Amino acid sequence: MNVQALPATKGNHNLLSYEETAANFDWSTVEKEFSWSTTGKVNMAFEAIDRHALSDKKDKVALYYSDAKRDEKYTFEQMSQMSNRAGNVLKSVGVEKGDRVFIFMPRSPELYFSVLGAIKLGAIVGPLFEAFMEGAVRDRLEDSAAKVLVTTPDLLERVPVGDLPNLETVFIIGDNVKEEGPIKDFNKLMQEASSQLEITWVDREDGLILHYTSGSTGKPKGVLHVHNAMLQHYQTARWVLDLQDDDVYWCTADPGWVTGTSYGIFGPWLCGVTNVIRGGRFSPQDWYETLQRYQVSVWYSAPTAFRMLMSAGDELVKQYDLSNIRHILSVGEPLNPEVVRWGSKVFDLRIHDTWWMTETGAQLICNYPCMDIKPGSMGRPIPGVKAAIIDDQGNELPPNRMGNLAIAKGWPSMMRTIWNNEEKYQSYFEIDGWYVSGDSAYMDEEGYFWFQGRIDDVIMTAGERVGPFEVESKLIEHPAVAEAGVIGKPDPVRGEIIKAFIALREGYEQSDELIEEIRNFVKKGLAAHAAPREIEFREKLPKTRSGKIMRRVLKAWELDLPTGDLSTMED
Ligand code: WT7
Repeated sequence: MNVQALPATKGNHNLLSYEETAANFDWSTVEKEFSWSTTGKVNMAFEAIDRHALSDKKDKVALYYSDAKRDEKYTFEQMSQMSNRAGNVLKSVGVEKGDRVFIFMPRSPELYFSVLGAIKLGAIVGPLFEAFMEGAVRDRLEDSAAKVLVTTPDLLERVPVGDLPNLETVFIIGDNVKEEGPIKDFNKLMQEASSQLEITWVDREDGLILHYTSGSTGKPKGVLHVHNAMLQHYQTARWVLDLQDDDVYWCTADPGWVTGTSYGIFGPWLCGVTNVIRGGRFSPQDWYETLQRYQVSVWYSAPTAFRMLMSAGDELVKQYDLSNIRHILSVGEPLNPEVVRWGSKVFDLRIHDTWWMTETGAQLICNYPCMDIKPGSMGRPIPGVKAAIIDDQGNELPPNRMGNLAIAKGWPSMMRTIWNNEEKYQSYFEIDGWYVSGDSAYMDEEGYFWFQGRIDDVIMTAGERVGPFEVESKLIEHPAVAEAGVIGKPDPVRGEIIKAFIALREGYEQSDELIEEIRNFVKKGLAAHAAPREIEFREKLPKTRSGKIMRRVLKAWELDLPTGDLSTMED
């Protein structure tokens, strides 16, 4: 190993010794942190908000929210009341335990009230990223048989309300909402609603949240997490985010993705910490201003964002007072050593990489303040979790051998099913006792894990996970497209970009206009981040004899690599 390690930082950290804690830790001790360990009454929203509203933290700021138009703050007591109101609004249309309530909107305080309100009723929340277009929205609402949707006037046009027989009510958050059929005015009802709500107590194993995510085959799958996940949300927010009472914490992820819920809602509020939410689009100025204005002390973001800040230049960052930041973390894609070095230079702090997935519900392999960082490594498994590199038969491989990154089954925040697809769920656990992540990695002699790539064809672009199959399916809906194969192409800023290879139908000619048209077609049908940045036309695409597009061959063409075994290719 020839990387220069960054030494552990001293301080009164929540995790003081990795080795010692890892040797002795037992998850049952975490239960004592929650009121249900004595009352037997479980609900994530109670533990995250109401518990603090009933304590001497009630007047502490829980949420600082701002965007270009709004600038607000809410104490824990106010969050409790507002989420009670939202709960009452949802209850008024019959939302009950187990119902799926989807939230499709840009960040706003109401988004957080609705998520918490739905959870207080024991409903299962389905957050949808605001960039999703009609096809993506339809797939998710249909698969989950969502009963209620909360959205905004702009986004309503992407919701095929009439085609969704299970969707009974659509709440609109906006001005002058015209109530008609299933459409209801959320803000009006919020004002009329009581701020008292009888919370619905659930079982630890009852459904909490459904995050749709992409694989390399099939439609996006609904990953179900349960209330029990709070054990790990809380404990990792302590050890990994190192959250302490006086911290001001900012997680830059949108709640449409799992980071934005596990660590944008649950983790920080379970710890009773002040949470910053900044709406609107990314810009380096805006982000530095946000860090400065709220005196953010703990900051959780992603490699693509750090790379964009890096390319905005060091002069810019010097114009802000960021001296309150004490801890920085990253997730979602490989964190390049170069970015870690940049972080050390401009913030005088280490950036702590963390590894986990939608399916894992919470962080699993991480770097901690008390541990040396080897730039380029994702770190070591959190205490209480066993990770290993295994071969395809399930044998654990010795250090420095590349293989499947796997986690011993049974950590607290593990997904509990794939919605409507138990078979898919089981496919993650085919090797006895292990969850197989789909990532390849190796572990060094000191137990640090090093990410190598995805084993499947899943694309990570700007930290967002895109399934090539979904994009290919959309592409072939375009009248000009006969066949399409989609790959991730390495990109210095976005990690990967989406590249599509297309064979045209008879009678179509390639042109720049057609490229633009096809790209827009995917943008409108799926989401802007799923549209191919590059499109290349080919007479024919490489396929197996059974007709499957061979993405590995496309990738080899693109990167000028050997194509490997072609024995299954047609002609
Ligand atoms: C995939 C999961 C869970 C939060 C965001 C992503 C990749 C995640 C890292 C990291 C290298 C990483 C993996 C993983 N990934 N973190 N620190 N280093 N790669 O969640 O959308 O479910 O994607 O993201 O390939 O399998 P996701």
